[in-house]
Amino acid sequence: MPVREIKPGIYHVGAIDWDRRLFDELIPLPEGTTYNAYLVKGKEKTALVDTVDPAKEQELLDNLKEAGVEKLDYIIANHAEQDHSGAIGRVLERYPDARVVTNEKCKNFLKDLLLIPDEKFIVVKDGEDLSLGEKTFSFVFTPWVHWPETMVTYLKEDKILFSCDFFGSHFATSSLFADESGRLYESAKRYYAEIMMPFRTSIRKHLERLSNFDIDIIAPSHGPVYKNPSFTIDAYREWNSDDVKNEVVIAHVSMHGSTGKMVDYFIAALMKRGVQVKPFNLPGTDIGELAIALVDAATLVIATPMVLSGAHPQAVYAAFLANALRPKTRFISIIGSYGWGGKFVEQLKGLLGNLRAEVLEPVIARGHPKKEDFRKLEALVDTIVEKHKNSGLL
Ligand code: FEO
Repeated sequence: MPVREIKPGIYHVGAIDWDRRLFDELIPLPEGTTYNAYLVKGKEKTALVDTVDPAKEQELLDNLKEAGVEKLDYIIANHAEQDHSGAIGRVLERYPDARVVTNEKCKNFLKDLLLIPDEKFIVVKDGEDLSLGEKTFSFVFTPWVHWPETMVTYLKEDKILFSCDFFGSHFATSSLFADESGRLYESAKRYYAEIMMPFRTSIRKHLERLSNFDIDIIAPSHGPVYKNPSFTIDAYREWNSDDVKNEVVIAHVSMHGSTGKMVDYFIAALMKRGVQVKPFNLPGTDIGELAIALVDAATLVIATPMVLSGAHPQAVYAAFLANALRPKTRFISIIGSYGWGGKFVEQLKGLLGNLRAEVLEPVIARGHPKKEDFRKLEALVDTIVEKHKNSGLL
């Protein structure tokens, strides 16, 4: 991947990972990803902002060579996770006089994770400046987006925010700058849902603080660079707000069709009443799509048959995921069927405790759903419609 200029003296020297399809052996990456590292050449000093995933470290070194970097003074580490810090060791081998500039917490992570020796670090404080000559960095601590040590780096004269994971997107593209397409928006929303949503309270605080900065460009460490920062800042404000939409996410799985019949009836009944439905048949679901839907939906319903003495493992996983992502869901319910016993309602309720959502009366059928079960599903739909109306959504 070639070195690309963002502004005079400021270059993208990172790598595109077109083929990566899984992150942390967990998160699907349908659009691949990028590991953005930025080179900033000042009159007196030269700095690298973040590095790349170890799989791409040779590309980074080649790019630094192509950019004519003979001497590197600083490696700014905004975040210790290895997709940004994993090449620091190799960069230090190539540029032994460089110092890793980061906060105390990040330094300790980097020492633990990458065995970087203590003497290689310069520790900075929140709000501290670092001059390269006519270019000045200011460090802004943004803990919990999404690790406890995360920070962003603001280049004052050029009004560029190097935001690392914040405002990122797993979106491999040959375009240096964001095209603001629907595909990019969806990728950014997926990234927010999977990585940032559990930290809504912290993100709200950081968005507020960053609103005091004059930002012309946001240069994240994944995905394209934003020349129009409001595209991503406005999206974050919306996703991160307390506002929900008139939507019911239905995460469902059925083994022999009984739960499936209930789900079909339930979807149709909600649609008749003007409620938007987002069903996910769990065995074939990309969990990223489910996460995206959870960003906005007022209500989550999990539908499952009984397996052994509890919910189907796919339903357990969906509940575990929703609980971990902590969406702003206001109402939850459970529907399902069983043959001879078991306790999936209590099990799933217990798994969803982080949501602090109101639990609406579950509907559970013995075997094939019967008239009475469909009547109960109608009652659940009535309740959802009423709740959505009372929330001003319908
Ligand atoms: Fe892109 Fe938290 O690393």
